[in-house]
Amino acid sequence: MDRPVPPAVDFYSRHPISEGQVVDALRRQGKDLERLQPEDLYDLDQDHYGGLEAVEVLARRARIDAASRVLDVCAGLCGPARFIARRWGARVTGLDLNPERAAGARRLTARVGLARLVRMVRGDAQSLPFGAQAFTAVVSQEGLLHVPDKVGALSECRRVLLSGGRIAFSDWIVTPRLGDRERRRLEEWMAAVTLQSMDGYKALLARAGFGAIDAEDLSAEWIGILRRRLEMYRGRRADTVARLGQARYDEYDQLYTFFVGLVEAGKLGGARFSATAGPAAS
Ligand SMILES: C[S@@+](CC[C@H](N)C(=O)[O-])C[C@H]1O[C@@H](n2cnc3c(N)ncnc32)[C@H](O)[C@@H]1O
Repeated sequence: MDRPVPPAVDFYSRHPISEGQVVDALRRQGKDLERLQPEDLYDLDQDHYGGLEAVEVLARRARIDAASRVLDVCAGLCGPARFIARRWGARVTGLDLNPERAAGARRLTARVGLARLVRMVRGDAQSLPFGAQAFTAVVSQEGLLHVPDKVGALSECRRVLLSGGRIAFSDWIVTPRLGDRERRRLEEWMAAVTLQSMDGYKALLARAGFGAIDAEDLSAEWIGILRRRLEMYRGRRADTVARLGQARYDEYDQLYTFFVGLVEAGKLGGARFSATAGPAAS
């Protein structure tokens, strides 16, 4: 019998940001697809809030440099992974659960000539297919919200990091104002599960074996970013309807409006966390 598709995989298989959308946009811009540079993708392949600037800050928190071995958990189309490799010359491994995104990420990386530095592995954040201490830094952006066992995933990040290695990630956070019905809708519509508060995440990081834990509330910054993203989505209506159909366009518009409303009401927000891997468990 076929195994059911996990909700997070289904959500991203139908998501408006995809390899196809990136390639179509490049064609419309008149780019020669055989001669692409990593920079040609920068406006198109980042599926998080705050664009490249947010990746820069995260990389600084993770103390990434040319010698780093970086794991990007929930890497999507590997946009942040390619940017880190290009900007710092670091070797980056992206990990994502969605098979289409993983395959699309590999093709985009090959198109811009970064396959030497960036590899994509399909896998689950809750059970990382890597040996202990394989990386010096772990990053993740707006992906852990989909992962049911967050302490399991963070413990896995700790396991694959060298002692003293750094983790830096951003994610949605909830406040006590979020109602049970709203929480259920986020789960049903956006595959957002076991959402954490700021303090909740800090406690999970400590349980997973991290120290020097720092948390920054990004909620105020995200409100403007989210409104602009929604406007941009609506601005590309004709293109999205042509690719995915009116029903899918409307569905995504509705759920994104609901999501932005929760952030505006202070029920949902965003935060960036960073921490240092403690001694490996014996
Ligand atoms: C909002 S996208 C972020 C992509 C990327 N971090 C970026 O900033 O461009 C979230 C990603 O998390 C991935 N994901 C969801 N659950 C996952 C899991 N359990 N393990 C690995 N990846 C997962 C999804 O497939 C999706 O590509």
